[in-house]
Amino acid sequence: MCGIIGYVGEKNCTPILLNGLKNLEYRGYDSAGIAVLEGNSINIKKSKGRVKNLEDLIEKDLCGGNIGIAHTRWATHGKPSKENAHPHEDNSHTFALVHNGIIENYKELRHFLCEQGYSFFSETDTEVIPNLIHYYYEKQEKTKDGFLQAVALACKKLEGSFAILVLCKYFPQTIILARRNSPLVVGKGKNEYYIASDIPAILEYTRDFYFLDDNEISFLESDIIHFFDFDLLEHEKELIHSSLSRNSSNKNGYEDFMLKEIEEQPQAIFDTLNQDIDLHLSSSFSQIYIVACGTAMHAGLVGKTCIETLCKIPTFVEVASEFRYRNPIIDSHTLCIFISQSGETADTIAALKLAKQKKAKTIAISNVMGSSISREADVCFYTYAGPEIAVASTKAYTSQVCLLCMLAILFAKQLKTASDKDLEVLKEDLLQLPKQIENILEHKDKIQILAKQLAFERDMFFLGRGIDYTTCLEASLKLKEISYIHSEAYPAGELKHGPIALIEQNTPVVGILTEEALLEKTISNLQEVIARGAKTFIVTNQELPKNIFDFVFTIPKTSRFTSPALSIVPLQLFSYYIAKQKNLDVDKPRNLAKSVTVE
Ligand code: F6R
Repeated sequence: MCGIIGYVGEKNCTPILLNGLKNLEYRGYDSAGIAVLEGNSINIKKSKGRVKNLEDLIEKDLCGGNIGIAHTRWATHGKPSKENAHPHEDNSHTFALVHNGIIENYKELRHFLCEQGYSFFSETDTEVIPNLIHYYYEKQEKTKDGFLQAVALACKKLEGSFAILVLCKYFPQTIILARRNSPLVVGKGKNEYYIASDIPAILEYTRDFYFLDDNEISFLESDIIHFFDFDLLEHEKELIHSSLSRNSSNKNGYEDFMLKEIEEQPQAIFDTLNQDIDLHLSSSFSQIYIVACGTAMHAGLVGKTCIETLCKIPTFVEVASEFRYRNPIIDSHTLCIFISQSGETADTIAALKLAKQKKAKTIAISNVMGSSISREADVCFYTYAGPEIAVASTKAYTSQVCLLCMLAILFAKQLKTASDKDLEVLKEDLLQLPKQIENILEHKDKIQILAKQLAFERDMFFLGRGIDYTTCLEASLKLKEISYIHSEAYPAGELKHGPIALIEQNTPVVGILTEEALLEKTISNLQEVIARGAKTFIVTNQELPKNIFDFVFTIPKTSRFTSPALSIVPLQLFSYYIAKQKNLDVDKPRNLAKSVTVE
């Protein structure tokens, strides 16, 4: 989705802004633009398509200046075009602004501004903001304070979500920024500040950050920073040092982020497990809801199995976009766990706010320090997977699975619902995962060969029972999103209730078999598809009868609950190698964005 970058300091800002935009490319976008303030003129360049197009434009007509803002746009209101790209200006070309989020009342504001004589040149919701700022600025003293007042007054009129950076041509040292429901961080350098919608964009310049809160506005110059609420009451803010390494957000010799991140899973899991979790769970919870989207929701399904088995509390998993609109029956005896790698997914944040309104106790699981979800929930636990740049989630998923198992162990211990011995065994299994994943990764060539054979298939099926079915859902999602092969995940026993009609000669069926107690039943289901001509490819940690299946990939033995963190790894590689074989952009699959900040 959209990305923001800004700079104020002593350096030429153009290369910094372009580099920041490139670092943000992974979020998905369709146009890009930059505004640089030099003297009293704002120089704006925009282009449709890749940041490279913008860079070519700037090379022809180089921007200088030490203060600027830039943006990658993922179209919501209005098609991808140069006119709709940010930065946007007011009619008098006094203000330039970049915006992430959606202004829900833009039609009313546009109508109001039209009545005041303003005109609009784009189809965006954003264009109302610089004009609204201008409208208020006209009523202020023409000072920096007046500029700040005007932005604050405009922010109060906006409904929806926004992270904005604003330049004013009369104040060539100043950037004003503000947010509501859309992230913004300010990185501190020496006599300079870097601003971004997410940390990886500026991690190579600084590791000291201010995280803007909702309804907060900040006034920035190269050596000045102030924070206010929208009534302009000033407050202090803590500077937070991030332990992320600079390498975390570059490819570090890998061809793609996705392969790098698949291979980082042992470290990501190790770092996630190696934290002290301090939480006392009240025994008064009668139910648990786990709410998330996409891959994070699939991790939640593993969490459900683990929590229900160990803690004996009914646990429900729901997609956030459904949960938020269906008036769920929850109250102060409900624990709601929200999982989000980015911590910025609009539906998950809205679901979290709803749960709080209904007085549920809320826990967030996020991979991004200071993310919206981490600040909104009563308690936040982090996965320490490091920045996940590839759109397809891999290391965040396995880290979420491990963190949920850790929480289940902790809850079960407090509630005394599982034996100490069982919990110790599971703990030990968790600690073995990094080594076991390394072992799987050593055999990735086998998966690569298989992927080459299946790269041009039209459909695939993933079958499993119990916890293996949850892995099927995740494996099927990975395949769809990066290889564009149609795929379906089914509980193996459900196939004959309809979908088996789709099995034809040579249809590829991937079976996951780690559920020991359900092994014979799943094998029978696979034999049913073999009898109808399917080719079968198996991931297992069980002894299987010989010569039934076309391909068997064996993974190390582990407990039921930790098995998804192992069985997904060959299937992540499978999707990755298929996409590579088809020459697709694995890190930036079509139509997708890394962090889905609109509903
Ligand atoms: C799939 C994928 C998405 C995300 C989903 C939620 O590979 O990455 O399905 O899992 O958009 O994102 P977060 O976890 O950031 O809330």
